[in-house]
Amino acid sequence: MNELDLLVESAREQFAHSATPADLENAKAQFLGKAGRVTELMKGMAQLSVEEKKTRGAAINLAKQAIEAALNERRQALQDAQLQAQLKAEALDVTLPGRQRGAGGLHPVSLTLERIQGIFGSMGFDVAEGPEIETDWFNFTALNTPEDHPARSMHDTFYIEGGTPGAPNLLRTHTSPVQVRHAVQHVKQHRALLDAGQSMPEIRVIVPGRTYRVDSDATHSPMFHQCEGLWIGENVSFKDLKVVFTAFCRTFFESDDLVLRFRPSFFPFTEPSAEIDIQFQDGPLAGRWLEVAGSGQVHPNVVRNMGLDPERYIGFAFGMGLDRFTMLRYGVNDLRLFFDGDIRFLSQFQ
Ligand code: PHE
Repeated sequence: MNELDLLVESAREQFAHSATPADLENAKAQFLGKAGRVTELMKGMAQLSVEEKKTRGAAINLAKQAIEAALNERRQALQDAQLQAQLKAEALDVTLPGRQRGAGGLHPVSLTLERIQGIFGSMGFDVAEGPEIETDWFNFTALNTPEDHPARSMHDTFYIEGGTPGAPNLLRTHTSPVQVRHAVQHVKQHRALLDAGQSMPEIRVIVPGRTYRVDSDATHSPMFHQCEGLWIGENVSFKDLKVVFTAFCRTFFESDDLVLRFRPSFFPFTEPSAEIDIQFQDGPLAGRWLEVAGSGQVHPNVVRNMGLDPERYIGFAFGMGLDRFTMLRYGVNDLRLFFDGDIRFLSQFQ
C-alpha cells in the first residue's frame, strides 16, 4: 500500500471511530482542514517539476476525493443513527386506548339561571348586569334605605376599602342596586323622548348575579345568587307583578296548579311590598309554604332616583334567590353543596 492509500485508510478508520457529529468534524479537520494532512501533501509539491506535479497532484486529488466520500458516508450514518434513536425515544404506542377527557357541564345554579332567562325572555324581559363591588349610594341610599336601617350594619354587610367618608364601598347585598343603575342608563338613552314629553320604551329587565351577606349556615352562604326583576312603564300595576311572577313560577316548576301567596311585607324601596310564597300541591313539599322572593311596587323615591317622574312612571320589582330556586327544583337540602365544587355532587346535574 502506498502512502496515499494508507492516508485514506487511516481517515476511514478515524471517521469510523467518531461517535458524534462533533467528533467527526474534528477528525475531518485532521485530514481536510487548513493544516490537515492533505493540505500538507499539496504544499509538499512545490519543489516538483511540472510533469511530476501533474501525476502527483492527480494522485493526491484522488485520495482527497476518497477521504471526502468516506466523510460523507459517515456523516449520513451518524445522522441516520440519531434519527433512529429519536424515533425510538419518542415512540408512540398507537394501540393504547385514548385518554378520557371527562364531559364538562353547567353548574346547577347556571342551569337554573338559563331556565329563568328563557322564561322571562319569552315575556319580553332583557338581561342586565351590574358590579359586585357597589357604592353605598346604589346599594342603599338610592333605594330609599335610611341611614339606620339594620341591613347597613357591619353584621349584615361586607364593607370594603374605598368609597367616600361615611359611605364606604361594599359587596352588594342584593341585585336591587342594578334597578337604579339600569334605569339611569335607560333614561339617558331615551333622554330626547323624555325631554319632548313623549313616552319612553318600558324598562323590562332581569338582573342575575352574585350577592354577599355576613351569613353562613345550611341555607345561607356569604356569597349567594339573586335575580332581580324590574318592569317600569306608565301603566304597570301590582296585578302585572302577580300575573308575571305566577306565570314564571308555574313554568319554572312545570306545575300548573302551583299556588302563590303575596304576603304583605316591608322593603324600603317598594311600597306596597310583598314576600312571595309558593305552595306545591304534589310531591315531597306538598302543602308547605316556601318563601321564594321579595317584591313590590317601586317606591316613588326610587323612581325619582332613576331620573323619572313618579307621577308618570310606575312599576314593580322583585328579587329572588337563584340558589333557593335551584334547591327546590332539584330537591337539594344544603346550599353549601353548590359551592363546595365536589364533582360527585355536580355531575348529577349533567
Ligand atoms: N332586594 C330584596 C332582598 O334582597 C328583594 C327585593 C327585590 C324586594 C325587589 C323588593 C323588590 O331581600
